[in-house]
Amino acid sequence: RSSPLFPNVADVDFSKMEQRERSQQAFASVHQQLGKTYLPLINGEYVNTKESIDSLNPSNSSEIIGKVGLLSVEQAEQAMQAAKAAFPAWKRTPASDRAKILRKAADLMEQRRAELSCWIVLEVGKPVREADAEVSEAIDFCRYYADEMERLDGGVNYDIPGENNRYHYQPRGIAIVISPWNFPLAIATGMTVAALVTGNCTLLKPAETSSVIAAKIAEILVDAGIPKGVFQYVPGKGSQVGAYFVNHPDTHLIAFTGSQEVGCRIYADAAILKPGQKHLKRVIAEMGGKNAIIVDESADLDQAVAGVVQSAFGYSGQKCSACSRVIVLEPIYETFIQRVAEATRSLNIGAAELPSTQVGPVIDATAQARIKEYIEKGRAEAEVAVELSAPDTGYFIGPVVFSEVSPTATIAQEEIFGPVVAVIRVKDFAEAIAVANGTNYALTGGIYSRTPSHIEIAQQEFEVGNLYINRTITGAIVARQPFGGFKLSGVGSKAGGPDYLLQFLEPRHITENI
Ligand code: NAD
Ligand code: ALA
Repeated sequence: RSSPLFPNVADVDFSKMEQRERSQQAFASVHQQLGKTYLPLINGEYVNTKESIDSLNPSNSSEIIGKVGLLSVEQAEQAMQAAKAAFPAWKRTPASDRAKILRKAADLMEQRRAELSCWIVLEVGKPVREADAEVSEAIDFCRYYADEMERLDGGVNYDIPGENNRYHYQPRGIAIVISPWNFPLAIATGMTVAALVTGNCTLLKPAETSSVIAAKIAEILVDAGIPKGVFQYVPGKGSQVGAYFVNHPDTHLIAFTGSQEVGCRIYADAAILKPGQKHLKRVIAEMGGKNAIIVDESADLDQAVAGVVQSAFGYSGQKCSACSRVIVLEPIYETFIQRVAEATRSLNIGAAELPSTQVGPVIDATAQARIKEYIEKGRAEAEVAVELSAPDTGYFIGPVVFSEVSPTATIAQEEIFGPVVAVIRVKDFAEAIAVANGTNYALTGGIYSRTPSHIEIAQQEFEVGNLYINRTITGAIVARQPFGGFKLSGVGSKAGGPDYLLQFLEPRHITENI
C-alpha cells in the first residue's frame, strides 16, 4: 500500500550564486547578533533567571553564541501551573486551528531558513549543507504533522442501525519535550509540534548546548500565534529542571530524544506513581545507536566507500544514525580498508562555517575528551588504518578508522558519537549478520551488496529500525523514511511516520443507543 506523496520542502541549491550570497549575508547578520541573552518563556512572558550559561561556538570556543537563562525549580513549577491553566481551552481548540499554527510556523521557518541554518552552524558546529537540510526537516515536520492531525481528527465511525459507535482521539494533557543538541532545530521542532498539534500543552526543555536555537523555535511559535501557556520554552539543566518535569505528578507525556543512559533513567523515573498522580505517564524515548554497514564481496566498492565515509563522518559522526561499525567480508577486506583510508584522507576538516568543510568540530570539550578516550582504547584494541589531524581552535577531532576490530571490543559495542569507525572482518554473510546484530542497539543499518539472497536475508534478519540498501544510512526524510529504532535504541513509533501522533493522543470510544 503506497501512501500519498508528501511534498517535502527542497533544500537550498548552493550551486546557485544567489543562494551562496544569501547564506553569506545571513552569516554576516547572525554574527552581529552573537552574545545576546535568551530567557525562558513562561506563560507568554520572557522571565529573568538567577543563573545562565554561555552557549559557545564549537568551531571557535572563544566565541559566545548566546547567553541562556536557566530556569529554576520554582519557575519550572510556575510553568507547569500555566500549562495546566491553558490546557482546557487548547484541548477544545479545533484540530484545524492547531494545524494552521504549525503551517504558519513552517512558513516562518522557510522565510528565515538562511538565518536558522547559520544559528545551527554556529551553535552546534554543523556544516552548512547539513544545517540547511536540518531546516528542511523541521519545516517538513510542521507541515506533515499538521496534515496527520487533520487525518486523525475525523476518528472512525462504526455506526450500525439503532446504535452510533464513534472512535475518536483526545489530547493527553501536559507534554514535556526533552531534546538533544545534535538536531537542535529538527528534532526539537518535531517533538514539540507533534505534542502541540495533538492538543497537549507543551514545555520544551532543550539540551544546554543548543538552547539558543531552541529559543528561535520559541520565537517562531509565538509569531505563528501559539497561545500563552500552551507552549513554553524552559531551558535548564537536564538533571535538575528536566528531572523535575519528568517526576512531576501533572506530567502526562514525555517525548525524549537523547542518550541511552538518560532515556532509561527517564523511563524508570516516569514509571513511579507520585502522590496525587491519577494516571500513568507515556514515555517516548528515542536513544542511541551503534549502527553497522555490511559490505559483501559483490558490493560496488565505489558506492560502498563513499557511503561509509559519508555515513561515518557526516556531522563528525554525531548523528544517532551514523555508521560506527563496518562489517566487511574477508575477500574484499584489504581492498576496502585501503580505499576507505584514502577516501578519509581526502576529507576537509575545519570550521563548520567554511563552505569547503566536510567534517567540523564535535559539540564541546567534554565530548572531545570522551572521544579521545575511546580513540586511546581503540589503539589498545585494534589497528589504526588512518587518523587525521585537526585544528586546535575549537573542539575538533580528526576522523579515525580502526581496522581488525573484534566485534566485542569496546569501540565496536559502545556509542562513541564522534568521527571514529571500527572495521570488522568476517568470513561469510551469516557471520556478518550475527555481528551486525551483536549489540544492544537497533537503530539504523546498511548493506552494500549486489547479491539478491544477501539483500533478502538482511531485510529479514538485520535488526534495525531503519535499514538502507546500497545507500548512506543517515539523512532520513520526513514521510519518506519514518525514523526510529528498537531494542535499546528506543521505545516509540517512528518520527515522521503515520503512527507518530497516536502516541500523543488518548483514544476514546462512545456508543449511543438511538
Ligand atoms: P543526553 O541524553 O545527554 O541529553 C538529552 C536531553 O536530556 C538534554 O536536553 C538533557 O539536558 C536532558 N537530560 C539530561 N539528564 C536528564 C535527566 N536526568 N532528566 C531529564 N532530562 C535530562 O543526549 P545528547 O548528548 O543531548 O544527545 C546525543 C544522544 O542522543 C546520542 O546518544 C544520540 O544517539 C541520541 N539521539 C538519538 C536520536 C534518535 O532519534 N534515536 C536522535 C538524535 C540523538
Ligand atoms: N533522522 C536523522 C537521520 O536519519 C537522525 O540521520
